Amino acid sequence: MLEMKDVTFNYGNGVPVLEHVSVTINAGEFIGLGGRNGCGKTTVTRLLMGLEKPLTGTILHDGQDITQHEAAVRSHFMGYVFQRPERQMFRPTVQEEVAYGPQQLGMSDAAIGHAVADALAATALTDLADAYPPNLNRGEKQRVAIASAVAMHTECIILDEPTSGQDSADKAMLMDLLTKLNKQGMTILLITHDMDILAEFCQRVLVIGNHTKAFDGTPQELFTQRKDLYELGLSRPEAVSLSMAVPGMPYCKSITEFTAAMLKRLGGTTK
Ligand SMILES: Nc1ncnc2c1ncn2[C@@H]1O[C@H](COP(=O)(O)OP(=O)(O)OP(=O)(O)O)[C@@H](O)[C@H]1O
Ligand SMILES: [Mg+2]
Repeated sequence: MLEMKDVTFNYGNGVPVLEHVSVTINAGEFIGLGGRNGCGKTTVTRLLMGLEKPLTGTILHDGQDITQHEAAVRSHFMGYVFQRPERQMFRPTVQEEVAYGPQQLGMSDAAIGHAVADALAATALTDLADAYPPNLNRGEKQRVAIASAVAMHTECIILDEPTSGQDSADKAMLMDLLTKLNKQGMTILLITHDMDILAEFCQRVLVIGNHTKAFDGTPQELFTQRKDLYELGLSRPEAVSLSMAVPGMPYCKSITEFTAAMLKRLGGTTK
């Protein structure tokens, strides 16, 4: 479990970024983090990672105060996929990149070999094991960063806008992979501006607005009950709008769900 308790932060220029933010991330959750551009989403994750330190407040891991622990220490239990994943890759091949974390943990060569092979297989990168990371496309680079976390058996992985600018095939592959990892117990924290992803894949959504936590609840609560979605930099997904517009329809988190519910209903009326 990861916790931010009453965290206040700015970048030293007097401009407030986060004020009194408290957030709990429970093991095994799939959480979406949203909010308008510049609201502080990346900053929240950098504070969790230890890449920034709060001005006041604490960060806890399983109840232990880790506020002053460096990012390298936290990387043992927390993986991270940057918005530009090439910025986190320094080794000449994919497999060496993925082996870096386990090497830092002091694992034996045999254990590292197994961990890397398993992580590459889980992320569909086995055929690219000897590739030079900068030559990969963005989706592949993201998968290398995810494989690095998988090889370390981290408890959680944080992804910063991983689907922005991706075609639908890459997006689907990434979301399938994250869903699979989550089912295996990995906690996922995903920053996104994609409302369909918040609705369809996240069990819980956190929204930052006005320098603090503006919403913390289920996507259904967010998209059906909040009247200030626009002010928060969000919008209601089409599938949710459609299901709310048709009287008697259940909440639908995706167009697939909406279509299935509609067909069931039509089938029912023609019988
Ligand atoms: N290194 C920095 N130095 C000074 N100000 C910064 C720095 N990084 C971010 N900021 C400012 O802090 C605020 C929060 O930035 P942050 O990157 O966390 O927002 P974000 O929600 O991730 O935005 P986006 O949706 O555009 O990625 C913004 O006003 C931004 O301009
Ligand atoms: Mg950001």
